[in-house]
Amino acid sequence: NLNQEFDEKVRPCIDLIDSLRSLGVEKDLALPAIAVIGDQSSGKSSVLEALSGVALPRGSGIVTRCPLELRMTKNKLGQEWYGKISYQDQMEEIKDPADVEKKIREAQDQMAGVGVGICKDLISLEIISPDVPDLTVIDLPGIARVAVNGQPENIGEQIKSLIQEYITKQETISLVVVPSNVDIATTEALKMAQEVDPDGDRTLGILTKPDLVDKGTEETVVDVVHNEVIQLKKGYMIVKCRGQSEILQQVSLPEATEREKAFFNEHAHFQVLYDEGHASIPKLAEKLTLELVHHIQKSLPRVKDQIKQKLGETQERLTKYNTGPPSDEAERIDYLFEKVTAFTQDAINLTSGENIKNG
Ligand code: GDP
Ligand code: NA
Ligand code: MG
Repeated sequence: NLNQEFDEKVRPCIDLIDSLRSLGVEKDLALPAIAVIGDQSSGKSSVLEALSGVALPRGSGIVTRCPLELRMTKNKLGQEWYGKISYQDQMEEIKDPADVEKKIREAQDQMAGVGVGICKDLISLEIISPDVPDLTVIDLPGIARVAVNGQPENIGEQIKSLIQEYITKQETISLVVVPSNVDIATTEALKMAQEVDPDGDRTLGILTKPDLVDKGTEETVVDVVHNEVIQLKKGYMIVKCRGQSEILQQVSLPEATEREKAFFNEHAHFQVLYDEGHASIPKLAEKLTLELVHHIQKSLPRVKDQIKQKLGETQERLTKYNTGPPSDEAERIDYLFEKVTAFTQDAINLTSGENIKNG
């Protein structure tokens, strides 16, 4: 049974990495992750909201201003939706999926300041729902070409260095989001991914906005998805999300999934991509979960080595502090007294040493 195998193997794998990350382990070592990168307005947040089923801050300009970790856990059909946002030392439960976008904006304002600045600290959003894939992805600010009013001159460089921090790590799979209606060869994000991963071993291309492709250029898009233009070992997927007008019309996310399916099914050029399993959000979700689990399994030995090394270093430091405080209350006071006396003596020795040195 595929589902059961999935529950037994996939979820524990993702949970292990998520709990290491929430313990703050990432400060000391790199954990397997999927990071979403792309130029501004290429459709990164739209892809993530389609995967997660909740509205995220999205639109023109720089909207994603802090790295956003989206932790999705699929629960059994009929169980309730659960959301939780954490950042800095704050944590808040979210009762209504409709509040997610507002909460993220508040968190960004608090961390990156109201306006257009960016911040390197992570906002973590946990979603448990029957409608999400088992997947953890990190949304990053989009690459901006020019600074807008109120932005520091070097905003482009700031964003690039933040993206680099994530994608340089061997443990990161980069999802490079590229609109179908732009020349993929000129995409800054893909160039950045190629620099750190020349063979494309851990880079996956995602083409967005297939509904905006110019007539006559469809076959070029098909070639890209068939991995015949810029080769990536993990290949390409193509998805259609809600455009600005569909958002204004308040097309729901489930409705958008239906429209996406119909779009590909009826498309003279792209239908073949759908039949091959290279198209649509649900197919992307499936692929990403498998990629992430595969990647975690591959990365675990390296993570284990790093943990061992850190543990060794910490143990060495710990031995310097001898056995630590006793558990008995009365003994503790003696112990503390002993330590304070020893410390005071050390301090006296040190100052008298200084006095001697200073004459
Ligand atoms: P980000 O800056 O990369 O996060 O991009 P967003 O997700 O905020 O999307 C930028 C704009 O592109 C928004 O207005 C989206 O509605 C629109 N958009 C995203 N995906 C599609 C798509 O598949 N088709 C169309 N027509 N518009 C899209
Ligand atoms: Na945007
Ligand atoms: Mg965005």
